[in-house]
Amino acid sequence: MEEFFRLNDLYLKKIKHKLRFWMISVKNLASVSDQEWSSTEKYPGVRWKFLIDSDFDGSSGLSLGFAEIAPGGNLTLHYHSPAEIYVVTNGTGILNKSGELETIKKGDVVYIAGNAEHSLKNNGKETLEFYWIFPTDSFSEVEYFPTKQESA
Ligand code: NI
Repeated sequence: MEEFFRLNDLYLKKIKHKLRFWMISVKNLASVSDQEWSSTEKYPGVRWKFLIDSDFDGSSGLSLGFAEIAPGGNLTLHYHSPAEIYVVTNGTGILNKSGELETIKKGDVVYIAGNAEHSLKNNGKETLEFYWIFPTDSFSEVEYFPTKQESA
């Protein structure tokens, strides 16, 4: 009997592995309502959740999360080797593009090349909300490097 369950378990693992290649999944923010917000002292007023991420599901190749920056909050100047995309869904903020400042707002999309320094500060009255996308299986494999410059 034990042998049966062990083999069954092995069989299920194989099937799950195969299904990864065919996986198509739909989520929205409500899908992760039971997930705790993540945050760090390095980025005051910033919190985020993971939506498409190999640490949480069977996805691979791309990862996506949702972040909020409270008024006055700052995702301070940093860089990382993968490129990144932001899709802004609410509010306004000041994007630091390696020293050049640009105001971004709801509906804007931002491409950030790998290793380009960037920061995002909420200078508005509303919560700044955006999705980020990395060409990585998970957020956890993206190594964030702070920069010495003062951020905007
Ligand atoms: Ni970044």
